[in-house]
Amino acid sequence: MKAIAVHPGKADSIHLEDVSKPSLDQIPNGRGVLVRVLRVGVDGTDKEINAAEYGAAPEGDDFLIIGHENFGVVEEVGPNVPDTIRPGGYVVASVRRPGSSIYGKIGLQDFTTDDVYFERGINLLHGYLTEYYVEDSNFVFALPETLREVGVLLEPTTVAEKGINHAYEIQRRLKVWEPRKALILGSGTIGLLMAMAARLRGLELTVASLPKPPYRNSELVEQLGAVYRSTQDSDLRAISEERGPFDLIMDATGFSPIIWEAAEVLGKNGVLVLSSITGGDRKVEINSDRINQSFVLGNKVMVGTVNASPADFRSGVDDLIKAQALFPGWLDQLLTTPIHGLENYEEMIRALTEDADAIKVFVEVNGSR
Ligand code: BGC
Ligand code: ZN
Repeated sequence: MKAIAVHPGKADSIHLEDVSKPSLDQIPNGRGVLVRVLRVGVDGTDKEINAAEYGAAPEGDDFLIIGHENFGVVEEVGPNVPDTIRPGGYVVASVRRPGSSIYGKIGLQDFTTDDVYFERGINLLHGYLTEYYVEDSNFVFALPETLREVGVLLEPTTVAEKGINHAYEIQRRLKVWEPRKALILGSGTIGLLMAMAARLRGLELTVASLPKPPYRNSELVEQLGAVYRSTQDSDLRAISEERGPFDLIMDATGFSPIIWEAAEVLGKNGVLVLSSITGGDRKVEINSDRINQSFVLGNKVMVGTVNASPADFRSGVDDLIKAQALFPGWLDQLLTTPIHGLENYEEMIRALTEDADAIKVFVEVNGSR
């Protein structure tokens, strides 16, 4: 069967690889799930892997099958797979697998303290840009029929879910935390999905991003009942004076200097969630005393988040269902750029690297339902 792969460490090595179809017996304990891949989304991580800035091949292979934002249909299950996962049902598999830290042993490998990450499609494990995969049912999540069109958005949604779920989890320390106003920084796929998750939790929401409105993403923000502001028109201080103080700020800009501005305007007892992966070496001058003092006197929290736990996959499924009910057609608008077939991998990487207007580039792997 076909797979889109790279030679990690070699820039622009994306190619089509011929691999053998996996089978249930590759998964121990009768927990195997064989899945026919329907759609796979791609993102900045895939771009970095093809640029040889990130990623590693599985031991013994000189290629890595990429793609981690998967969606597929179950073909076959082992005898010990729970009956929520059955042939014909839609599923999404998670990305990270346990290493040796205790967090992996309790199913929270997103909190691993290991130096190496085992991530399907990213590091040391093959991904999903292929025709079939097998996985242990512990890492597979069932989706209802109604998510057929938008289920490929679940994995990126879980990144937003983990951030917001953990903000609430952390603030249980306050006994009565009732956040009212939230600010999302960035209006790319993750920023938009964070905006959706925040609105579904009833927050009064502002989304701040670089481009000047109106344009498609600012309109998507407004369709959620949120307010869009361009950081070219006003800085975060002005946005906070107008729309804050913010109980929750979540960053998905990829531009690290903005987090120090966000730290400065975060409201008392507020949480600032960081989710951007910034591999660079940028340095900026910050208002160190002011930020420190406001964090101390305001009991504020800054927290990083990566990947997601099973609980975030479950709340992600719930939120996709709710979003379809409350904002019909909104999620579909994120699926801007379909690529038809694995063999069009060059078009896929071009859309990912050159199409600045694309929200979600995804590959239709298997036409039939
Ligand atoms: C993925 C996460 C992953 C992270 C770091 C992101 O693109 O969505 O699941 O943990 O990259 O590799
Ligand atoms: Zn990703």
